[in-house]
Amino acid sequence: MVPVPIPLEPAHLIRNADGTPISAIYGDIYHSAAGGHAQSRHVFLAGNGLPARWQGRERFVILETGFGLGLNFLATWLAWRDDPQRCQELHYISLEKHPFQAADLALAQAAWPEFALLAEQLRLRWPALQPGVQRIEFEGARVVLTLVFGDAVDTLPRLDTVVDAFYLDGFSPDTNPELWSSALCRSLARVAVSGATLATWSVAGSVRQALTAARFDVEKRPGFAGKRQMLVARYA
Ligand SMILES: C[S@@+](CC[C@H](N)C(=O)[O-])C[C@H]1O[C@@H](n2cnc3c(N)ncnc32)[C@H](O)[C@@H]1O
Repeated sequence: MVPVPIPLEPAHLIRNADGTPISAIYGDIYHSAAGGHAQSRHVFLAGNGLPARWQGRERFVILETGFGLGLNFLATWLAWRDDPQRCQELHYISLEKHPFQAADLALAQAAWPEFALLAEQLRLRWPALQPGVQRIEFEGARVVLTLVFGDAVDTLPRLDTVVDAFYLDGFSPDTNPELWSSALCRSLARVAVSGATLATWSVAGSVRQALTAARFDVEKRPGFAGKRQMLVARYA
């Protein structure tokens, strides 16, 4: 019998007292209150040595756990556009269990006017919220967003790709341990190219152990805004 996919439970945009988007499901914030775009650049782009690492490459593949508001994707796309030495093709794969409707994305993304043109293109192409894989092409297919709607615990082990850089951006390991487990880190390693890099704001001991066991060499770096540390890693 063909298994029936579990319907998605969409996220709904709500904000905490200081205006930062927060998840009603996980009780955690979507980005640092000190600035979403700046956090993306510091933690995920710089943490993976981007844009330098994609320069001169034919193809560069990023995999993200948790698409959320699309902030990291928009920051990465903008950095790619602004880079005269950008790779020919940028592939951005993002795994998301609770996607937003386009209307909620519009409300949230209005906070970053620098993304306005790109965010509008994203929302115009935003797919129906059904489990499965959606491929969306921008920039004449030079930027390809692959959205994998469903639980990353189930979808990541079945993903057929190779990855140059990982953005680990699930909610905190305390509230969402399944997205940081040893099994999930082994699934990251399965698709990593030799020398693949990884970045995340979490320096939790359990995350460092799970990554190390999956053959990522982890290293702490100064964190974003008030955070003392963040984590970068390289696949051995
Ligand atoms: C901190 S937010 C991500 C923010 C996002 N990267 C951005 O740039 O806007 C964490 C995301 O992880 C998603 N998530 C949590 N558990 C998940 C799972 N098991 N599989 C896939 N996505 C998950 C949440 O729905 C949420 O959108």
